Amino acid sequence: MSTDRQREQWGSKLGLILAVAGNAVGLGNFLRFPVQAAQNGGGAFMIPYFLFFLLLGIPLMWMEWGIGRHGGKYGHGSAPGMFDVICKHKAAKYFGSIGLLISIVIMIYYTLIESWTLGFSFLSLTQHYFDQTSFESMKSYLYSYQGREVTDLFSGIGISYIFFLVTFVINFWVLYRGISKGIEKLAKIAMPLLFFFAIILAIRVITLGTPDPNFPDRNIASGFAYLWNPNFAELAKPSVWLAAAGQIFFTLSVGMGTIQAYASYLKPKDDIALSGLTTASTNEFAEVVLGGSIAIPAAVAFFGITMTTQIAMGGAFDLGFVSMPLIFEQIPFGHFFGFIWFLLLFFAGITSSVAMGQPVIAFLEDELKFDRKKAVAILASVVFISVQFVIFYLKYGFLDELDYWAGTFGLVVFALLETILFMWIFDSNLAWEEMNEGGDIKIPRIFYYIMKFITPVILLIIMIWWFVDNALPTLLMKNVLPENVPYIWGARALMLVLCGSLFLTIHYAWKKNYNKGN
Ligand code: ALA
Repeated sequence: MSTDRQREQWGSKLGLILAVAGNAVGLGNFLRFPVQAAQNGGGAFMIPYFLFFLLLGIPLMWMEWGIGRHGGKYGHGSAPGMFDVICKHKAAKYFGSIGLLISIVIMIYYTLIESWTLGFSFLSLTQHYFDQTSFESMKSYLYSYQGREVTDLFSGIGISYIFFLVTFVINFWVLYRGISKGIEKLAKIAMPLLFFFAIILAIRVITLGTPDPNFPDRNIASGFAYLWNPNFAELAKPSVWLAAAGQIFFTLSVGMGTIQAYASYLKPKDDIALSGLTTASTNEFAEVVLGGSIAIPAAVAFFGITMTTQIAMGGAFDLGFVSMPLIFEQIPFGHFFGFIWFLLLFFAGITSSVAMGQPVIAFLEDELKFDRKKAVAILASVVFISVQFVIFYLKYGFLDELDYWAGTFGLVVFALLETILFMWIFDSNLAWEEMNEGGDIKIPRIFYYIMKFITPVILLIIMIWWFVDNALPTLLMKNVLPENVPYIWGARALMLVLCGSLFLTIHYAWKKNYNKGN
């Protein structure tokens, strides 16, 4: 079966690589990674991290490119149609709804976080936060900006809401422009700038020396030592291994449905093998080399090890939005460095968030035959309505609940599902041929066995472990403040409503197009 409508295509190979790398390189590289590494054994964290990169990240990247390009040949740019093609069972397309759900849920909260980075780049340039000189007051500043706390620093949530609207409009404008005129063009501008800004910041951090001679042990060498000195004892903890796997998923954007959507716009004989490897490696360079050289080493140089440990324990937002602004206040041209730090985060964020919008748009275009304008308008309405809950219920853990199920646990579930469908149900030899077809390199044969046996087994172990250790207590709301309970239920209700709507739409689409809804 071939599509009756001309699907879009990428304009150039470089543009495609930048777009997929942009999809992967995101807030996770500069905020999530350093915090995860610092919390989980420093240099020792890199052992499970690189092991999972080889056994999960790279294989999933290739498989997702393969599933995506294969689905695209049949006119499908999202998981329901792709699963329907690789597995003839009538239930397969419904499993694809998980891929759509994950990408849309992550997009809902990710665009909000992205809008904070845009807001803070402006607030850096205007030195608006420069009189907050303690950790507590800067945190209060962030909380007021986000609307979690009422102070006289901001009159309500207005400023933050305006930056959210700007971010929202840019995202959907890019999506409306389409694959090559929107997403590809954005990547061609944002990715080089992102790397340029990250390199400038990394150089600035490396040359910090000993910022305060009264504290000789607070210096940049101890900053790097803090992040990279291995604490091998940590490797005995299963939580460290789970954290490493979780970081690999999130940072590479695998298990989200977005890589497949991008790959569906390839031509049937376009290279996958080298492009998949290049995008994964670009992401790792941005994460380990650049992401590892900015926020944590700078925090140690300015605040010392004890305080940095506390900052890392506080999470990615404390590191990015509290500790970094306090540093910018203390260095010459700090407002400029603050501006490029947050703009770098914004570029990293937006090239990922547009990718999260693409699967649903492709679904509406390919399966319901909507034009792009209508598809974008529908997605924009759903995201806009849903994000209001995230904005106004932020302090009650609404965002964290969405992030846990979609951005953490869901990725493993979806990755396991697609691996089984592609390597076992579709046929591993056909899958292997698909991934190697038109390749500029040949994927080493050992990866055939890794993809077929090792990747699914590790995914299964991780999923079960995670479920027992973490997902079950989260589901049962252990450690949830009583006042947050209704909001957590609200977040779950939102995800259920979205999932149910996707299910019904898939049913309707197949009935209409192929007269085989169930
Ligand atoms: N891969 C994206 C990130 O790292 C989602 O933020």
